[in-house]
Amino acid sequence: MTSKKVLTAAQIGCGKFAWNQDLVNLTAHPGVKLKWVCDVNQENARRAAEHFSVPCCTTDFLEALGDPEVDFIKIATTHEVHLPIIEAAAKAGKHIFCEKPMAMVDEEAYRIIHAVRRGGIKLCVDLNRRMSPAMQALRRKWLGHAANPQHNPWRYVETVRELLPEENLPHMMIRIQDESSSYGLGHLDPLSGGGEIIGESVHWLDLACWFFAPQLPCEITAWGSSRLSHGIHLRFDRGASMTLDFSCSGTFDFPKELYEVTDNAALFRSLHFVENDYYGMPENAPEFFAPQHDPFPEKGQGFAAFQAKYLANVAGSTNAKLQENATPLMPDKGHIAMLDGFVRAIQEDLPSPCDELAGFRSTYLAQRAIESLELKRTLSIPLEKITPCIL
Ligand SMILES: NC(=O)c1ccc[n+]([C@@H]2O[C@H](COP(=O)([O-])OP(=O)(O)OC[C@H]3O[C@@H](n4cnc5c(N)ncnc54)[C@H](O)[C@@H]3O)[C@@H](O)[C@H]2O)c1
Repeated sequence: MTSKKVLTAAQIGCGKFAWNQDLVNLTAHPGVKLKWVCDVNQENARRAAEHFSVPCCTTDFLEALGDPEVDFIKIATTHEVHLPIIEAAAKAGKHIFCEKPMAMVDEEAYRIIHAVRRGGIKLCVDLNRRMSPAMQALRRKWLGHAANPQHNPWRYVETVRELLPEENLPHMMIRIQDESSSYGLGHLDPLSGGGEIIGESVHWLDLACWFFAPQLPCEITAWGSSRLSHGIHLRFDRGASMTLDFSCSGTFDFPKELYEVTDNAALFRSLHFVENDYYGMPENAPEFFAPQHDPFPEKGQGFAAFQAKYLANVAGSTNAKLQENATPLMPDKGHIAMLDGFVRAIQEDLPSPCDELAGFRSTYLAQRAIESLELKRTLSIPLEKITPCIL
């Protein structure tokens, strides 16, 4: 545990994501002083230092790790360099906040777990969906219903038969519609990105594991393309399941992420992290969640208002993405809460909000999904693989 109230940080990797989230969030956080920016591309590092008024700038992450003042690093590089950076940081006794995926294959993930535990430091993987206010609320509502189901009086129940054993098992449906023209080579290159299952779907594999914990995943089936559109079905040991339907042929003109959990004659639905709706129970008022950045707070809240704000935000633009960067409108997907949780974990010696084991699990499941898709069959998730025993 550190007695420091303000932690000193170094940002490693100053590309698109760092500009959208890390540099903004680290410099705004009252418990963090961002001292270093580092990028192998000197111009990226220089621009970030200048724009965010960061005093130290380098192209070599070892220089930042050599600074005794630095408490933690934030990694937002391409994926293939996580392992050497994490190994060096752990050896230098620095805590690590790492972008997803933690690793590209399970062997790298095992080595990261070793390094983190030997270094006695904390690691947090930015599998941020689990920290979004909307997902936290969805899980709370689902757990409440599971513990004490309340049904509407008009529920239709057939009385001539008993409940079947496989009835009323919880299921999570995740529908992603994304626009692949926005993907950079960093995502698609097999060596530095690995494609959409390892680069993106780790988010939803992690979310399902977090949502249904303490159930453990036991079986996986995947189909489609590991680098673009695909589907994944994940089954858990006590009957819960998750189906992900990820299409890259969609449009930014409609929100990307729809979540639906069904269980015991109820539906829990989250629309793009801005609105949760609940059906099949008497206490079912919708919940609204403020976007992370909102240039139009006066236009109201909820999904319809978010859509109206999106259209107002891109009006007159020929490139929605550029426009979004200029005046960002972002749903709250949990990035700030994850950073906050990690800072508190260091300051108060609490568990990391998304530790190396979660990072390993999502990597391993993504890898298994890719194998399933290539073999065109369902694969088991052995217990000894999903709960590795590592010193
Ligand atoms: N959590 C999320 O929701 C989310 C969303 C988008 C991206 N990401 C993740 O953020 C990361 C970065 O993505 P991006 O879109 O910004 O990619 P990017 O290619 O724009 O940026 C990566 C940067 O890392 C730099 N870099 C590469 N190797 C380096 C090294 N050894 N030392 C220092 N700098 C190095 C590159 O020069 C580049 O500037 C990826 O891991 C991606 O998966 C996360």
